[in-house]
Amino acid sequence: MASLWTFLFLNILGRVIWGFPQRCKPGSYFQGQCRTPPEEKSKCIDIMLTYCKDMPYSTTMYPNLLEQKSRSEAEQSLEYLLLNVIHSVLNWECNPDIRMLGCSIIAPRCEDHKILKPCRSTCESVHKACDHMFESIGMAWPYYLDCDRFFVSEEEGCYDPLEGLREAEESEMDSMPIEESSSVIPFTYHSNKQMFNILIKTAEECSHISRTYSIGQSTEKRDLLVIEFSSNPGEHELLEPEVKYIGNMHGNEIMGRELLIYLAQYLCSEYLLGNTRIQTLINTTRIHILPSMNPDGYELALSEVHRSSDTDDEDAIYTGYAAGRHNAQNIDLNRNFPDLTSYVYNQRRLKYFRSDHIPIPDSYWLGKVAPETYAVMKWIRSIPFVLSASFHGGDLVVSYPYDLSKHPLEKNMFSPTPDEQVFRQLAKIYANAHPTMSSQDTDRCGGKFADKEGIVNGAQWYSIVGGMGDFNYLHTNCFEITVELGCDKFPAEDDLYTGWKENKEALLTFLESVHRGIKGIVKDEDGHGIKGAIVSVRGNRHYVTAAENGDYWRLLTPGTHIVSASAPGYSRVMKRVHLPAHMQTAGRVDFVLKKVPLDPESNEINILHLARYERFDPYNQLDWYYKRESRQTEEERQEKPWWWSYFTQLSNKNPTWLLRN
Ligand SMILES: *[C@@H]1O[C@H](CO)[C@@H](O)[C@H](O)[C@H]1NC(C)=O
Ligand SMILES: [Zn+2]
Repeated sequence: MASLWTFLFLNILGRVIWGFPQRCKPGSYFQGQCRTPPEEKSKCIDIMLTYCKDMPYSTTMYPNLLEQKSRSEAEQSLEYLLLNVIHSVLNWECNPDIRMLGCSIIAPRCEDHKILKPCRSTCESVHKACDHMFESIGMAWPYYLDCDRFFVSEEEGCYDPLEGLREAEESEMDSMPIEESSSVIPFTYHSNKQMFNILIKTAEECSHISRTYSIGQSTEKRDLLVIEFSSNPGEHELLEPEVKYIGNMHGNEIMGRELLIYLAQYLCSEYLLGNTRIQTLINTTRIHILPSMNPDGYELALSEVHRSSDTDDEDAIYTGYAAGRHNAQNIDLNRNFPDLTSYVYNQRRLKYFRSDHIPIPDSYWLGKVAPETYAVMKWIRSIPFVLSASFHGGDLVVSYPYDLSKHPLEKNMFSPTPDEQVFRQLAKIYANAHPTMSSQDTDRCGGKFADKEGIVNGAQWYSIVGGMGDFNYLHTNCFEITVELGCDKFPAEDDLYTGWKENKEALLTFLESVHRGIKGIVKDEDGHGIKGAIVSVRGNRHYVTAAENGDYWRLLTPGTHIVSASAPGYSRVMKRVHLPAHMQTAGRVDFVLKKVPLDPESNEINILHLARYERFDPYNQLDWYYKRESRQTEEERQEKPWWWSYFTQLSNKNPTWLLRN
């Protein structure tokens, strides 16, 4: 924001010194003190407006389409002033399209003593692409860009004011190397605003298979924006598994964030291009992508990198490592989840011990819960996720739960879950699809995992408490792995494309692997799904539960398994299943359970457990946070947007047309 203000301020200064013509003071025109120079009337004259000099034509005429009678009147108008600053107000988005569109009204094309009008179709496509940018800053679509009022159709003889731009863009694209297909994705860092814009635009381009939604806000009130891909965005479909990808949990670890921004664009454009693999994936899977879980930390990390690259010291770029890892409250988000693992370690010798759907202990809520952690917990609880990956940087390896060591004093102890084999399989799917992650070469980045084929149990690597992976596994049906994408936490922009090439196949293969194992529906005899029914595999104390309509998914390794389904008040049904080594789709295993009299004792245990599981935020931990937030938005509602004073300072009128309502 500081730089924008500097820009605006300089711009005001510039206008005061050079901008206003000497012969006519601002406002005095309206009092009749200024005469319109006669040479500006009724014939084509050169465009003398600084901000309209790059139009594809060189002459204009007054009065223009806004009925401004002279160049000086146009120059002093708020409509023109807006064009001067629009790129910085809109954060360089829709630039220079909006400005050129505005110029076609303020300095319209003149040929043979006649004004030509710009095309409505151009206006409409710019409006479609850019209106959300205006919306995001609370500014109305400028009245003079009203496509129905100031623009005309091709039959009426319009011209395209962006013509020159298109040609330049096309020739630029021609000279770019095109990889495999015609998806063109810019490989650069993305500010938070740029990221939000890309996600929103991508979802709009692919609106039949995509949408964006926010799961909450960061400490500094940035949205935690998710982009979803599915044949039915916004809805869980019966038997369709759900997967999530999370990036940038540590704000200074940026590769995952960038990969996920590219992945979203790739999925959209490839689907539209008819790529069968991508279409099949999206047609059968609901994919949720959260490129940044810690946008505040990213902002800090990025500013450190910029600051150090201002100095002469080349190495200084890489010193900003630690800055931005934590959220804005200085909390490490990957230590902030409820520690359910210790609870499981303490209970594991008890008879009715389970290692799934562990309730969050009330004591957790007495500690400091980051809004980012809070939002992700709510999200994980609200969707029946089956599979997940969280992307980090600093090494080259895939790690999997448990992340907390089973021995409190041993910080590097192998601590497997009951699903060790499943997790190893999942971790290998990612590592093996990556060109170097699983290589035996000890000289490479991540070489210390060379004998482990690029995968490692989290606790054996180093023990952490309150990690997100353990929470996913012990609180929900979701299996999450942690992917370390490279030794450099904040790689240079030049390395982003390489990162995408290396990880693209792994990112896709891992999403596809959600279709391993078995899935099905647990029903009663009338054919109704039984929500919450338990599906268990013999020899494994980690159960999965059925979703809303009785559908369930159980990731499994190849081989023979005894699977059973049960629910309070129903009989238990058992089935033997055999999974061949190379399965591309989940085996379908349905269960029909018969009603039986309730066993009061086990029912009571079950109800108690469920009540404890449902408890979320019992002390309104974040109450103060949301209260403060709602108070602020009320104040904001009464206040004018931040850009308002800039425009009112320079005009004696209130440009209410800039306000959205
Ligand atoms: C995916 O679904 C769409 C819409 O139903 C369909 O047109 C398309 O052919 C499907 N693609 C594949 C590869 O299944
Ligand atoms: Zn990390």
